[in-house]
Amino acid sequence: MYCTKKITDDLIWVGANDRRLAMFEGVYSVPRGVSYNAYLLLDDINVLFDTVDKAVGKTFFENLAHALNGKNLDFVVIQHMEPDHSATLMELLLRYPNAKVVCNQKILTMIQQFFQLDLSGKAFVVKENDTLSTGHHKLKFLFAPMVHWPEVMVTYDETTGTLFSADAFGTFGALNGAIFADEVDFENEYMDEARRYYCNIVGKYGPQVQSLLKKAHGLDLKMICPLHGFVWRRNLEDYFDKYVKWSTYTPEETGVMIAYASVYGNTENTAEIISSRLRDLGVKTVMYDVSVTPASEIIAAAFKWSHLLFASTTYNAGIFVSMEELLHDLAAHNIQNRTVAFVENGSWAPTSGKLMRQIIEGCKDMTILNETLTLKSSLAPGQLAEIDALVKAISDTIPRFEKPMIDESAMAEAKIDPAVFHKFSYGLFVLTAQADSKDNGCIINTAAQLTSTPGRINIAVNKANYTHDMILHTGVFNVSVLAEDASFDTFKRFGFASGKDTDKFAGFAEHVGRSKNGLTYVTLGTNAFLSAKVIDSYDYGTHTLFIAEVTEAAVLRDAPSVTYGYYFEHIKPKPQPKIEEEKHGYVCKICGYVYEGDTLPPDFICPLCKHGAADFEKI
Ligand code: FEO
Repeated sequence: MYCTKKITDDLIWVGANDRRLAMFEGVYSVPRGVSYNAYLLLDDINVLFDTVDKAVGKTFFENLAHALNGKNLDFVVIQHMEPDHSATLMELLLRYPNAKVVCNQKILTMIQQFFQLDLSGKAFVVKENDTLSTGHHKLKFLFAPMVHWPEVMVTYDETTGTLFSADAFGTFGALNGAIFADEVDFENEYMDEARRYYCNIVGKYGPQVQSLLKKAHGLDLKMICPLHGFVWRRNLEDYFDKYVKWSTYTPEETGVMIAYASVYGNTENTAEIISSRLRDLGVKTVMYDVSVTPASEIIAAAFKWSHLLFASTTYNAGIFVSMEELLHDLAAHNIQNRTVAFVENGSWAPTSGKLMRQIIEGCKDMTILNETLTLKSSLAPGQLAEIDALVKAISDTIPRFEKPMIDESAMAEAKIDPAVFHKFSYGLFVLTAQADSKDNGCIINTAAQLTSTPGRINIAVNKANYTHDMILHTGVFNVSVLAEDASFDTFKRFGFASGKDTDKFAGFAEHVGRSKNGLTYVTLGTNAFLSAKVIDSYDYGTHTLFIAEVTEAAVLRDAPSVTYGYYFEHIKPKPQPKIEEEKHGYVCKICGYVYEGDTLPPDFICPLCKHGAADFEKI
């Protein structure tokens, strides 16, 4: 039975997942499976982008037939001839004999090599920047040699800003029902697999990947459709940044990746001690036993971390076999621009240190530390000083912030004047959310832009606010930007009551709009609004800091935004002298709430606006 995914109204994923494959390309373990993506563009001329591996051919052909729904398949664009994408091409052409093949000359040569197919009259051979109009869409072909084979090309749909990127921007891992990267927690659940895919598949070809990135930067890119993994329609810049780092061999993290080969545990013990002492100095470490960890994982880690330490026993007068394979593999994948140290072990003739060094010396821009540690069977008590020297040598090359020189006793006497927080130039906002069909809102002064591209903001929300709980449950909210002409009534409506027992929108319908996410935004006394979707949150005790991606934003009118200072000076009514005479106690400087009593408890929280005792003054 078919299992397709709709990407846009006229673009359909017709690929398939394989969770039974043990070793991708016969080399890389894929415990979480792999997807083989193919895409069908339905237009006046219907175009298929690539085919799939033969292991999933049955599903692919069912998907394609369903997506075509009786229409002709006019073209198949072949972007990459590796059989994980082209193995079913021959069967495709048998099933759809009228389909023409769009490819470049190198691809045509490979089709003939793999299938001995005569494509006379069936092949449209394109050159770089050639275009093909399918009716509403205009496709442009860009060559991407060595990403991952020499014949690779990618296709840019100028109409929609979609890049069909072949192997680039792919990832290991089956799709498991999702199709877009923003449907899953990509950073936490898939980024390691994306890195492992990149480093092992195209890691060797950094300059060629950079050439493709340069071409892609010149495009108005809205979506990326790779041949493995998820479709990208949001936060493309984040993934681009990763590709820039990986293709320029720039470490993502500062710290030490320790890979060791240990037959009887003594080399491992030394690696443990080094890792422990590095941690004592505040240096991050990760450790891998090369005998049991797939090389592809260690290669990905080597691309991630800034420092590499290899520790190996001597074996058959050489490097231990799995370590030797790993080092040759790393060199073959062009690892470069790292700081490297070695530990060798040998009971009678240790040679692994020298031999490991020779392999790494063949890599570009490596800083190799002189302090190679030599073990004779096991770490001798007298060698702890050598361990310290090696650890210090590594630590000395790691840039870090110096611990600030602070006189703790002087710091203890320092005062914090809460009035300083009122001098900040932040604005005031109506934060709105919804749960169980109930709209609610509150006033905040803690919204700020985090990044402009992509558009991200952060808000800190008091946990006592009902709106806070709504956002925690739904992950979406709106922010309406208050203007200088906002009335105090608006602040009272949203700031001085709790939504738990009040309908803050009662009698206010004519002053609200609804954004595409279904939430309200305020149109009275505001000048703009934006909608946002939470992508991360941090618990800070009394407040939660939400990091959110902007999904909609509009300017409502041209009016200056209100600042906290302007509100106090011009909007908030001055305390009434009559009330001051009649009441004894403390008045909240924020909302005017009066606490009656001789002593204000230091942990008192204003029941209306939720500000603390520091914001009260004696009447
Ligand atoms: Fe996914 Fe290079 O093939």
